[in-house]
Amino acid sequence: MPKIKPVNVGLIGAGRIGSFHGETVVRRLVDAELVAVADPAPGAAAKLADKLSVDASYTDVADLLAHPGLDAVIIATPARFHANILVQAVEAGKAIFCEKPMALTLEDADRAIAAARVAGVPLQVGFNRRWDQAFAEGRAAIDAGKIGAPQLIRSLTRDPGPFGADPDKIPLWTIFYETLIHDFDTLLWLNPGAKPIEVFAMADALVRPDAKGKGFLDTAVVNIRFDNGSVAVAEANFCAMYGYDIRGEVFGSGGMVTMGDVRRSSMTLFDKDGVSNDTWRRDTDHFVQGYTAQLASFVSSVRTGELKDAPTGSDARNALALALACIESVSKKQPVIVE
Ligand SMILES: NC(=O)c1ccc[n+]([C@@H]2O[C@H](COP(=O)([O-])OP(=O)(O)OC[C@H]3O[C@@H](n4cnc5c(N)ncnc54)[C@H](O)[C@@H]3O)[C@@H](O)[C@H]2O)c1
Repeated sequence: MPKIKPVNVGLIGAGRIGSFHGETVVRRLVDAELVAVADPAPGAAAKLADKLSVDASYTDVADLLAHPGLDAVIIATPARFHANILVQAVEAGKAIFCEKPMALTLEDADRAIAAARVAGVPLQVGFNRRWDQAFAEGRAAIDAGKIGAPQLIRSLTRDPGPFGADPDKIPLWTIFYETLIHDFDTLLWLNPGAKPIEVFAMADALVRPDAKGKGFLDTAVVNIRFDNGSVAVAEANFCAMYGYDIRGEVFGSGGMVTMGDVRRSSMTLFDKDGVSNDTWRRDTDHFVQGYTAQLASFVSSVRTGELKDAPTGSDARNALALALACIESVSKKQPVIVE
Protein backbone atom coordinates (compact mmCIF):
# COMPACT_ATOMS: atom_id res chain seq x y z
CA MET A 1 0.00 0.00 0.00
CA PRO A 2 1.35 3.51 -0.77
CA LYS A 3 2.41 5.39 2.34
CA ILE A 4 0.28 8.41 3.22
CA LYS A 5 2.16 11.71 2.76
CA PRO A 6 2.82 13.25 6.16
CA VAL A 7 1.45 16.67 7.08
CA ASN A 8 4.43 19.03 7.36
CA VAL A 9 4.27 20.97 10.60
CA GLY A 10 6.31 23.96 11.77
CA LEU A 11 6.61 24.84 15.46
CA ILE A 12 6.63 28.51 16.50
CA GLY A 13 7.88 28.87 20.07
CA ALA A 14 10.29 26.32 21.52
CA GLY A 15 9.52 26.89 25.21
CA ARG A 16 7.92 24.53 27.69
CA ILE A 17 4.70 23.55 25.90
CA GLY A 18 6.12 24.11 22.40
CA SER A 19 8.87 21.59 23.12
CA PHE A 20 6.29 19.11 24.34
CA HIS A 21 4.08 19.62 21.26
CA GLY A 22 7.14 19.25 19.02
CA GLU A 23 7.97 16.00 20.74
CA THR A 24 4.38 14.85 20.29
CA VAL A 25 4.53 15.46 16.54
CA VAL A 26 7.85 13.63 16.25
CA ARG A 27 7.29 10.72 18.63
CA ARG A 28 3.56 10.25 19.06
CA LEU A 29 1.94 11.04 15.68
CA VAL A 30 2.36 8.71 12.74
CA ASP A 31 1.09 10.90 9.91
CA ALA A 32 2.80 14.24 10.61
CA GLU A 33 6.36 15.44 10.39
CA LEU A 34 7.97 18.30 12.28
CA VAL A 35 9.97 20.04 9.56
CA ALA A 36 11.01 23.33 11.20
CA VAL A 37 11.18 25.16 14.53
CA ALA A 38 11.29 28.94 15.10
CA ASP A 39 12.07 30.89 18.25
CA PRO A 40 13.78 34.29 18.58
CA ALA A 41 15.61 33.34 21.79
CA PRO A 42 19.23 32.66 20.84
CA GLY A 43 19.81 28.95 20.31
CA ALA A 44 16.34 27.86 21.48
CA ALA A 45 14.99 26.66 18.12
CA ALA A 46 18.31 25.07 17.10
CA LYS A 47 18.56 23.19 20.41
CA LEU A 48 15.08 21.74 20.16
CA ALA A 49 15.49 20.96 16.44
CA ASP A 50 18.69 19.11 17.26
CA LYS A 51 17.03 17.15 20.07
CA LEU A 52 14.15 16.12 17.82
CA SER A 53 16.30 15.55 14.69
CA VAL A 54 14.59 18.33 12.77
CA ASP A 55 16.73 19.82 9.99
CA ALA A 56 15.51 23.44 9.93
CA SER A 57 15.55 26.00 12.72
CA TYR A 58 14.93 29.74 12.50
CA THR A 59 14.96 32.78 14.74
CA ASP A 60 12.44 34.57 12.51
CA VAL A 61 8.85 33.40 12.06
CA ALA A 62 8.76 34.73 8.47
CA ASP A 63 11.62 32.37 7.56
CA LEU A 64 9.78 29.40 9.05
CA LEU A 65 6.64 30.33 7.11
CA ALA A 66 8.70 30.32 3.90
CA HIS A 67 10.01 26.82 4.62
CA PRO A 68 9.31 24.68 1.51
CA GLY A 69 6.33 22.38 1.73
CA LEU A 70 5.08 23.61 5.10
CA ASP A 71 1.38 22.76 5.60
CA ALA A 72 0.62 23.85 9.15
CA VAL A 73 2.00 25.60 12.22
CA ILE A 74 1.72 25.14 15.96
CA ILE A 75 1.86 28.50 17.75
CA ALA A 76 3.25 28.13 21.27
CA THR A 77 4.69 31.57 21.98
CA PRO A 78 3.72 33.71 24.97
CA ALA A 79 0.09 34.74 24.70
CA ARG A 80 0.66 38.36 23.74
CA PHE A 81 2.18 37.29 20.41
CA HIS A 82 -0.49 34.77 19.40
CA ALA A 83 -2.88 36.93 17.36
CA ASN A 84 -0.25 38.65 15.21
CA ILE A 85 1.66 35.44 14.47
CA LEU A 86 -1.60 33.64 13.76
CA VAL A 87 -2.63 36.25 11.17
CA GLN A 88 0.85 36.20 9.63
CA ALA A 89 0.75 32.39 9.32
CA VAL A 90 -2.80 32.36 7.97
CA GLU A 91 -1.83 34.91 5.33
CA ALA A 92 0.96 32.54 4.32
CA GLY A 93 -1.76 29.90 3.78
CA LYS A 94 -0.86 27.67 6.74
CA ALA A 95 -3.34 25.72 8.87
CA ILE A 96 -3.18 26.86 12.49
CA PHE A 97 -3.01 25.17 15.83
CA CYS A 98 -2.75 28.00 18.37
CA GLU A 99 -2.19 27.60 22.08
CA LYS A 100 -4.63 29.28 24.42
CA PRO A 101 -5.45 32.10 24.78
CA MET A 102 -5.77 32.72 21.05
CA ALA A 103 -5.88 36.48 21.71
CA LEU A 104 -6.04 38.92 24.61
CA THR A 105 -8.66 41.28 23.14
CA LEU A 106 -11.93 40.61 21.33
CA GLU A 107 -10.69 42.79 18.46
CA ASP A 108 -7.64 40.56 18.01
CA ALA A 109 -9.80 37.44 18.30
CA ASP A 110 -12.10 38.75 15.58
CA ARG A 111 -9.12 39.65 13.40
CA ALA A 112 -7.70 36.14 13.75
CA ILE A 113 -11.04 34.45 13.06
CA ALA A 114 -11.70 36.64 10.00
CA ALA A 115 -8.20 36.06 8.59
CA ALA A 116 -8.57 32.28 8.89
CA ARG A 117 -12.02 32.43 7.28
CA VAL A 118 -10.74 34.50 4.34
CA ALA A 119 -7.77 32.18 3.85
CA GLY A 120 -9.96 29.09 4.20
CA VAL A 121 -7.56 27.35 6.59
CA PRO A 122 -8.40 25.34 9.71
CA LEU A 123 -7.90 27.21 13.00
CA GLN A 124 -7.82 25.06 16.13
CA VAL A 125 -7.15 26.29 19.66
CA GLY A 126 -5.39 24.35 22.43
CA PHE A 127 -8.25 23.52 24.77
CA ASN A 128 -6.83 20.05 25.40
CA ARG A 129 -9.22 19.05 28.19
CA ARG A 130 -11.86 18.30 25.58
CA TRP A 131 -9.72 15.31 24.52
CA ASP A 132 -9.14 13.93 27.98
CA GLN A 133 -11.00 10.65 28.13
CA ALA A 134 -13.01 11.47 31.26
CA PHE A 135 -14.06 14.90 29.96
CA ALA A 136 -14.91 13.50 26.52
CA GLU A 137 -17.06 10.79 28.12
CA GLY A 138 -18.72 13.39 30.35
CA ARG A 139 -19.71 15.45 27.33
CA ALA A 140 -20.96 12.30 25.54
CA ALA A 141 -23.17 11.45 28.54
CA ILE A 142 -24.60 14.99 28.51
CA ASP A 143 -25.24 14.75 24.74
CA ALA A 144 -26.97 11.40 25.29
CA GLY A 145 -29.35 13.08 27.77
CA LYS A 146 -28.16 10.94 30.66
CA ILE A 147 -28.10 13.75 33.21
CA GLY A 148 -31.04 15.72 31.82
CA ALA A 149 -30.79 19.50 31.68
CA PRO A 150 -27.57 20.95 33.18
CA GLN A 151 -28.27 22.99 36.32
CA LEU A 152 -25.00 23.28 38.25
CA ILE A 153 -21.64 23.12 36.45
CA ARG A 154 -18.19 23.27 37.93
CA SER A 155 -14.63 23.31 36.63
CA LEU A 156 -11.41 23.77 38.53
CA THR A 157 -7.69 24.19 37.91
CA ARG A 158 -5.21 23.84 40.73
CA ASP A 159 -1.65 24.06 39.51
CA PRO A 160 0.90 21.95 41.35
CA GLY A 161 2.87 23.45 44.23
CA PRO A 162 5.21 24.53 45.52
CA PHE A 163 4.80 27.80 43.62
CA GLY A 164 8.30 28.73 42.45
CA ALA A 165 7.71 31.36 39.76
CA ASP A 166 8.58 35.02 40.12
CA PRO A 167 5.27 36.92 40.32
CA ASP A 168 6.96 39.91 38.64
CA LYS A 169 7.44 37.80 35.50
CA ILE A 170 3.79 36.71 35.30
CA PRO A 171 1.65 39.08 33.23
CA LEU A 172 -1.27 40.75 35.01
CA TRP A 173 -4.55 38.80 34.97
CA THR A 174 -2.84 35.56 33.93
CA ILE A 175 -5.17 33.60 36.21
CA PHE A 176 -8.07 34.55 33.93
CA TYR A 177 -6.36 34.84 30.53
CA GLU A 178 -4.25 31.69 30.73
CA THR A 179 -5.38 29.48 33.62
CA LEU A 180 -9.15 29.79 33.97
CA ILE A 181 -9.51 30.17 30.19
CA HIS A 182 -9.37 26.34 30.15
CA ASP A 183 -12.21 26.19 32.68
CA PHE A 184 -14.26 28.74 30.74
CA ASP A 185 -13.97 26.64 27.60
CA THR A 186 -14.83 23.51 29.58
CA LEU A 187 -17.92 25.10 31.16
CA LEU A 188 -19.16 26.38 27.79
CA TRP A 189 -18.46 23.04 26.12
CA LEU A 190 -20.23 21.03 28.85
CA ASN A 191 -23.29 23.28 28.55
CA PRO A 192 -23.87 23.03 24.79
CA GLY A 193 -25.80 25.89 23.21
CA ALA A 194 -26.09 27.92 26.43
CA LYS A 195 -24.84 31.50 26.50
CA PRO A 196 -23.29 33.13 29.56
CA ILE A 197 -25.16 36.25 30.60
CA GLU A 198 -23.66 37.32 33.91
CA VAL A 199 -20.31 36.86 35.65
CA PHE A 200 -19.16 37.57 39.19
CA ALA A 201 -15.47 36.95 39.91
CA MET A 202 -13.44 37.24 43.09
CA ALA A 203 -9.66 36.95 43.10
CA ASP A 204 -6.82 37.29 45.56
CA ALA A 205 -3.13 36.54 46.14
CA LEU A 206 -3.31 33.88 48.84
CA VAL A 207 -0.20 32.00 47.70
CA ARG A 208 1.97 35.12 47.37
CA PRO A 209 0.22 37.84 49.38
CA ASP A 210 3.45 39.87 49.21
CA ALA A 211 2.90 40.32 45.45
CA LYS A 212 -0.74 41.43 45.68
CA GLY A 213 0.18 45.12 45.78
CA LYS A 214 1.55 44.82 42.24
CA GLY A 215 -1.68 43.29 40.99
CA PHE A 216 -0.60 39.64 41.13
CA LEU A 217 -3.46 37.18 41.60
CA ASP A 218 -3.10 33.45 42.27
CA THR A 219 -6.54 32.41 43.51
CA ALA A 220 -9.95 33.03 41.95
CA VAL A 221 -13.57 31.92 42.09
CA VAL A 222 -15.99 32.78 39.28
CA ASN A 223 -19.78 32.45 39.17
CA ILE A 224 -21.43 32.37 35.75
CA ARG A 225 -25.16 32.50 35.00
CA PHE A 226 -26.29 31.08 31.64
CA ASP A 227 -29.33 31.87 29.55
CA ASN A 228 -30.69 28.32 30.01
CA GLY A 229 -30.92 28.97 33.76
CA SER A 230 -27.88 26.94 34.70
CA VAL A 231 -25.23 28.33 37.02
CA ALA A 232 -21.51 27.51 36.87
CA VAL A 233 -18.53 27.90 39.16
CA ALA A 234 -14.91 27.99 38.01
CA GLU A 235 -12.05 28.14 40.45
CA ALA A 236 -8.26 28.25 40.27
CA ASN A 237 -5.24 28.34 42.52
CA PHE A 238 -1.54 28.33 41.58
CA CYS A 239 -0.30 26.11 44.42
CA ALA A 240 -1.93 22.77 45.18
CA MET A 241 0.69 21.11 47.37
CA TYR A 242 -0.75 17.66 46.62
CA GLY A 243 -0.44 17.85 42.80
CA TYR A 244 -1.96 19.00 39.51
CA ASP A 245 -5.70 18.87 40.15
CA ILE A 246 -8.13 19.31 37.25
CA ARG A 247 -11.78 18.41 37.72
CA GLY A 248 -15.19 19.04 36.25
CA GLU A 249 -18.75 18.28 37.27
CA VAL A 250 -22.17 18.73 35.71
CA PHE A 251 -25.27 18.21 37.83
CA GLY A 252 -28.52 18.05 35.90
CA SER A 253 -32.23 17.35 36.26
CA GLY A 254 -31.60 13.63 35.75
CA GLY A 255 -28.21 12.96 37.31
CA MET A 256 -24.58 14.04 37.42
CA VAL A 257 -21.25 13.45 35.71
CA THR A 258 -17.91 14.04 37.39
CA MET A 259 -14.59 14.18 35.55
CA GLY A 260 -10.95 14.26 36.55
CA ASP A 261 -8.85 12.61 39.22
CA VAL A 262 -5.68 13.93 40.78
CA ARG A 263 -4.54 10.37 41.46
CA ARG A 264 -2.02 9.14 38.90
CA SER A 265 -3.48 5.68 38.71
CA SER A 266 -5.61 3.21 40.58
CA MET A 267 -2.53 1.86 42.34
CA THR A 268 -3.14 2.49 46.01
CA LEU A 269 -0.49 1.87 48.62
CA PHE A 270 -1.50 0.39 51.96
CA ASP A 271 1.34 0.52 54.48
CA LYS A 272 2.24 1.43 58.05
CA ASP A 273 1.30 5.08 57.38
CA GLY A 274 -2.15 4.25 56.05
CA VAL A 275 -3.55 4.35 52.52
CA SER A 276 -2.07 6.59 49.81
CA ASN A 277 -1.89 7.38 46.09
CA ASP A 278 0.65 9.16 43.95
CA THR A 279 -0.73 12.25 42.21
CA TRP A 280 -0.20 14.01 38.89
CA ARG A 281 2.53 16.64 39.13
CA ARG A 282 2.71 18.04 35.60
CA ASP A 283 0.19 18.87 32.88
CA THR A 284 2.39 17.15 30.31
CA ASP A 285 2.10 13.88 32.26
CA HIS A 286 -1.56 14.13 33.19
CA PHE A 287 -2.78 15.10 29.73
CA VAL A 288 -0.34 13.31 27.47
CA GLN A 289 -3.24 11.38 25.90
CA GLY A 290 -5.37 14.52 25.47
CA TYR A 291 -2.49 16.62 24.12
CA THR A 292 -1.69 13.89 21.61
CA ALA A 293 -5.30 13.40 20.57
CA GLN A 294 -5.80 17.14 19.98
CA LEU A 295 -2.80 17.29 17.63
CA ALA A 296 -3.86 14.06 15.88
CA SER A 297 -7.26 15.68 15.30
CA PHE A 298 -5.58 18.85 14.05
CA VAL A 299 -3.41 16.93 11.59
CA SER A 300 -6.47 15.16 10.28
CA SER A 301 -8.19 18.56 9.83
CA VAL A 302 -5.21 19.80 7.83
CA ARG A 303 -5.83 16.89 5.46
CA THR A 304 -9.58 17.45 5.15
CA GLY A 305 -9.41 21.26 5.37
CA GLU A 306 -12.05 21.28 8.12
CA LEU A 307 -12.09 20.97 11.91
CA LYS A 308 -14.08 18.07 13.33
CA ASP A 309 -15.26 18.35 16.95
CA ALA A 310 -12.37 20.65 17.79
CA PRO A 311 -12.26 24.04 19.52
CA THR A 312 -12.34 26.82 16.95
CA GLY A 313 -11.44 30.49 16.88
CA SER A 314 -15.03 31.28 17.91
CA ASP A 315 -14.73 28.97 20.92
CA ALA A 316 -11.54 30.81 21.87
CA ARG A 317 -13.38 34.12 21.56
CA ASN A 318 -16.22 32.90 23.78
CA ALA A 319 -13.79 31.79 26.49
CA LEU A 320 -11.90 35.08 26.17
CA ALA A 321 -15.14 37.05 26.61
CA LEU A 322 -15.58 35.31 29.98
CA ALA A 323 -11.98 36.10 30.99
CA LEU A 324 -12.53 39.76 30.11
CA ALA A 325 -15.80 39.82 32.04
CA CYS A 326 -13.94 38.39 35.07
CA ILE A 327 -11.28 41.10 34.85
CA GLU A 328 -13.99 43.75 34.73
CA SER A 329 -15.86 42.11 37.62
CA VAL A 330 -12.75 41.94 39.84
CA SER A 331 -11.83 45.52 38.94
CA LYS A 332 -15.32 46.82 39.74
CA LYS A 333 -15.94 44.37 42.61
CA GLN A 334 -19.37 43.63 41.20
CA PRO A 335 -21.18 41.25 38.81
CA VAL A 336 -21.01 42.18 35.14
CA ILE A 337 -23.11 41.38 32.10
CA VAL A 338 -21.24 39.39 29.46
CA GLU A 339 -20.81 41.11 26.11
N1 LIG B 1 -2.81 24.00 26.79
C1 LIG B 1 -2.03 23.90 27.84
O1 LIG B 1 -2.25 23.06 28.69
C2 LIG B 1 -0.86 24.82 27.98
C3 LIG B 1 0.17 24.49 28.85
C4 LIG B 1 1.25 25.37 28.95
C5 LIG B 1 1.28 26.55 28.22
N2 LIG B 1 0.23 26.84 27.39
C6 LIG B 1 0.23 28.10 26.62
O2 LIG B 1 1.28 28.04 25.67
C7 LIG B 1 1.87 29.32 25.50
C8 LIG B 1 3.37 29.20 25.78
O3 LIG B 1 3.56 28.80 27.10
P1 LIG B 1 4.97 28.20 27.61
O4 LIG B 1 4.75 27.81 29.03
O5 LIG B 1 5.47 27.18 26.68
O6 LIG B 1 5.89 29.51 27.54
P2 LIG B 1 7.48 29.57 27.48
O7 LIG B 1 7.84 30.93 27.99
O8 LIG B 1 8.08 28.37 28.16
O9 LIG B 1 7.84 29.46 25.93
C9 LIG B 1 7.52 30.46 25.01
C10 LIG B 1 8.60 30.42 23.91
O10 LIG B 1 8.17 31.29 22.86
C11 LIG B 1 9.31 31.99 22.42
N3 LIG B 1 8.91 33.21 21.74
C12 LIG B 1 8.71 34.45 22.25
N4 LIG B 1 8.34 35.30 21.28
C13 LIG B 1 8.29 34.60 20.14
C14 LIG B 1 7.99 34.94 18.80
N5 LIG B 1 7.62 36.19 18.46
N6 LIG B 1 8.05 33.96 17.86
C15 LIG B 1 8.40 32.72 18.19
N7 LIG B 1 8.69 32.33 19.46
C16 LIG B 1 8.65 33.28 20.42
C17 LIG B 1 10.15 32.22 23.66
O11 LIG B 1 11.51 32.50 23.34
C18 LIG B 1 9.96 30.88 24.38
O12 LIG B 1 10.95 29.95 23.98
C19 LIG B 1 1.12 30.26 26.46
O13 LIG B 1 0.12 30.92 25.74
C20 LIG B 1 0.51 29.33 27.47
O14 LIG B 1 -0.69 29.81 28.05
C21 LIG B 1 -0.80 26.00 27.25
